[in-house]
Amino acid sequence: MPTLPPPLPQQRRDAAAAAGVRVRRSVVTDLDALVALELRSFDGDRLSRAQYRRHLDSDSALVLVASANHHLLLGSAVLFFRKGSGIARLYSLATAPEARGQGVGTALLAAVVDAARRRGSRALKLEVRTDNAAAIRLYERHGFRRSGRYAHYYEDGADAWRYEQTLG
Ligand SMILES: CC(C)(COP(=O)(O)OP(=O)(O)OC[C@H]1O[C@@H](n2cnc3c(N)ncnc32)[C@H](O)[C@@H]1OP(=O)(O)O)[C@@H](O)C(=O)NCCC(=O)NCCS
Repeated sequence: MPTLPPPLPQQRRDAAAAAGVRVRRSVVTDLDALVALELRSFDGDRLSRAQYRRHLDSDSALVLVASANHHLLLGSAVLFFRKGSGIARLYSLATAPEARGQGVGTALLAAVVDAARRRGSRALKLEVRTDNAAAIRLYERHGFRRSGRYAHYYEDGADAWRYEQTLG
């Protein structure tokens, strides 16, 4: 019997849209919620409030948030651009624990790819813990290809995979 293909990113995006999830650029009034989400999502290597504050005002950073019903912050993504470089870097992606598995990460990642394309980036890269199965699966579904490994990349000594995607 043929096995069914896994759900496509588009289907997850549709699920997120059906759940009323929208992605927008973050503003200063999101700061408390961004910092709270960071604390709940990462054990180390966290962005501080001051760093978020700077990134909100920076031309070389883009902070996106996913929300539903216009107030709940369900997820966030941080994207960096470097002057003179056509390679954008997805620095952070997080979904609130209670909202995981519902397409929020997929919706954020789709918005990240769109934003990098609009900025004229020719590629998007990221690093992910080698033990982060959920994130790896999400990135591979979205066309990212593994391109290297960094030993002892994180504060706790864990290794990272490097992933990248060429943007057409
Ligand atoms: C990685 C992360 C952003 C995914 O967000 P999400 O909103 O759950 O993503 P989606 O609902 O779009 O689902 C993406 C995939 O991850 C899977 N997934 C989500 N939560 C999972 C979990 N706890 N365990 C295993 N897989 C999980 C989903 O099943 C889905 O895979 P599928 O399409 O094969 O079914 C989220 O798990 C998270 O915030 N993790 C903590 C922070 C983190 O590790 N960020 C990545 C740093 S590089």
